[in-house]
Amino acid sequence: MGEGGTPLIRLVNSNSILGVREVYVKFDGANPTGSFKDRGMTVAISIAKYIGVGIVACASTGNTSASMSAYASRAGIKPLIVLPKGRIARGKLVQAILHGAEIVLVKGGFDDALKVIIEASRRGLVYPLNSINPWRIEGQKTVAYEIVDEIGVPDWIVLPVGNAGNISAVWKGLVELKRAGLIDRLPRLVGVQASGAAPLVEMFRRGYRILKPVDNPETIATAIRIGKPVNWVRALRAVRESRGLFIDVSDNDIIGAQKILARHEGIGVEPASAAAIAGVAKLRKEGIIDRDERVVAIATGHALKDPDIILNHYNVRVHEASSIDNALSLIRKITLLNNS
Ligand code: F0G
Repeated sequence: MGEGGTPLIRLVNSNSILGVREVYVKFDGANPTGSFKDRGMTVAISIAKYIGVGIVACASTGNTSASMSAYASRAGIKPLIVLPKGRIARGKLVQAILHGAEIVLVKGGFDDALKVIIEASRRGLVYPLNSINPWRIEGQKTVAYEIVDEIGVPDWIVLPVGNAGNISAVWKGLVELKRAGLIDRLPRLVGVQASGAAPLVEMFRRGYRILKPVDNPETIATAIRIGKPVNWVRALRAVRESRGLFIDVSDNDIIGAQKILARHEGIGVEPASAAAIAGVAKLRKEGIIDRDERVVAIATGHALKDPDIILNHYNVRVHEASSIDNALSLIRKITLLNNS
């Protein structure tokens, strides 16, 4: 349905805020269902259809379930989704309803929902479409091809990390390009987590050999509110091999970065994606990224996915007019203020 081939947008107004001259946003919110998940879902659903699966299932913080529901519908397969109750952004839930998914709500978080899916697929009840399904990763790695096609190899690729499938996919794509002789060096990868849901950051910082899950992950970026990333082994290897790092950013920084992109660049992204931009700012502030290096931040999902975050965290500049004349006088006041 036109997945992939998303715009790579060079930032033009916010460089002085971020402190880096050449930053690009790979806007994967421009995919058909509004997130990067469509890249992998088109592949995995095609396989499901080919092998004759009747019902596909996933646990999700919202985007995977939105994407799976749309692609399953197109393939004539029944979508079933398991969601953490009360923790799904409204735009994403609406998409699952729209595309006719059977919805199972569980108490707890994403990690509990994923347990259900893993057990259900073990019992042969459903075909799982979480990123434990390798075909998802095969599709998602194409984002690396597109970045390299357009600007060559950047110095850094920065992206949000939840269940850690995407960072593993990006690295796989890059390594395969190098093995094929199409590029001769590799970028450094940075995985950004929200401070309240940062098991990989903790692991990386402390040099743990095994993941210590975060029991009650908490962040406004519900897409990455995950305490036990299933792909942690591959993600850690990707970051180590690329000489990259895992960092965390606060919820305040996430909203700040979302606002910068929205109001200085015209790019609307959901909170998890804004974490990548907040990550770029932090890396620059700490002197890890040089101001002359080329940086790509992957914006994984569209702002419309989570309208409530915007309504709750932004000052709304609404002027109530009592009549047409009153509206015109309000407009005159606003234009006067704006011109002064
Ligand atoms: N950004 C967005 C917008 C996401 O929806 C997700 C994951 C991520 C980043 C992190 O990607 O899990 O591969 O590390 N969303 C999943 C979901 C968990 O169910 O939609 P990851």
